[in-house]
Amino acid sequence: MQQDKPRLIVFGATGNTGRHVIPYALPQGYKVRAFVRSPDKLRAMMNTDNQDLEIYQGDLQDKEQVLNACSDGAEHIIFVAGLPNFKWHKQTRGAMLQAVKNVHAGMVKHQVKKILYLAGTPNPAPQQKLSIGIKMLKLFLIVCLGDQWNIRDNDDVIEFFTSQNKVNYVVIRPLFLFGQTQRHQLRASNTVGPMVSFTDLGQFAVRAVGDESLVNKFTYVSK
Ligand SMILES: NC(=O)c1ccc[n+]([C@@H]2O[C@H](COP(=O)([O-])OP(=O)(O)OC[C@H]3O[C@@H](n4cnc5c(N)ncnc54)[C@H](OP(=O)(O)O)[C@@H]3O)[C@@H](O)[C@H]2O)c1
Repeated sequence: MQQDKPRLIVFGATGNTGRHVIPYALPQGYKVRAFVRSPDKLRAMMNTDNQDLEIYQGDLQDKEQVLNACSDGAEHIIFVAGLPNFKWHKQTRGAMLQAVKNVHAGMVKHQVKKILYLAGTPNPAPQQKLSIGIKMLKLFLIVCLGDQWNIRDNDDVIEFFTSQNKVNYVVIRPLFLFGQTQRHQLRASNTVGPMVSFTDLGQFAVRAVGDESLVNKFTYVSK
């Protein structure tokens, strides 16, 4: 008898990282539900009529929509959504934390096993002290680029994950992301990694969410 394919839900599938998740996850044997604000945007990016891809329209700030999207026996979630990250973008403090809380509620309700969350190197793991260099980088990103809500929300999301015990998670913390080409097969790392491409990170996210050795870990990413 043929076994059902494992189901994966992707939040942020139209983003720089997210657009590389689905083309990698489908050939790995996943059935994918892409939760997006704009199905047309995703269709233009994916250019696929693969029967294992389901496009689900919704907004992460809408709890009901997120709860519904977590239904139907999904095994894993990849959360690579984020806020626009420069000074001149309108940002809302707490938006990503609220989005994660909505997804968490959906996971609890529908018994989804694990979520992968994309944070960054400036977001410390619990009890971790950042090095001076990374502290300076964090200050630069917040003060000079104005990326404060992404960064502060990611800190809050890490705290939220550790404060609950209902779902499993893995938080990945790459340094800078740049470029849309496949270069390296990335791996989890205990030390701060180099700049990596969105493509490599999107693919790594798919492998990492299924990696049992990373359950409830806050890992850097390396080549
Ligand atoms: N860029 C870096 O160098 C870097 C480095 C380390 C970590 N990170 C982390 O990675 C995260 C993602 O970065 P990225 O550059 O891949 O993302 P991105 O290109 O900014 O994409 C963000 C994604 O989130 C979606 N999204 C935002 N708000 C949403 C909402 N309310 N409902 C549904 N979807 C929503 C966007 O959908 P739309 O297409 O509809 O807008 C888009 O798909 C960042 O936020 C940051 O925390 C980034």
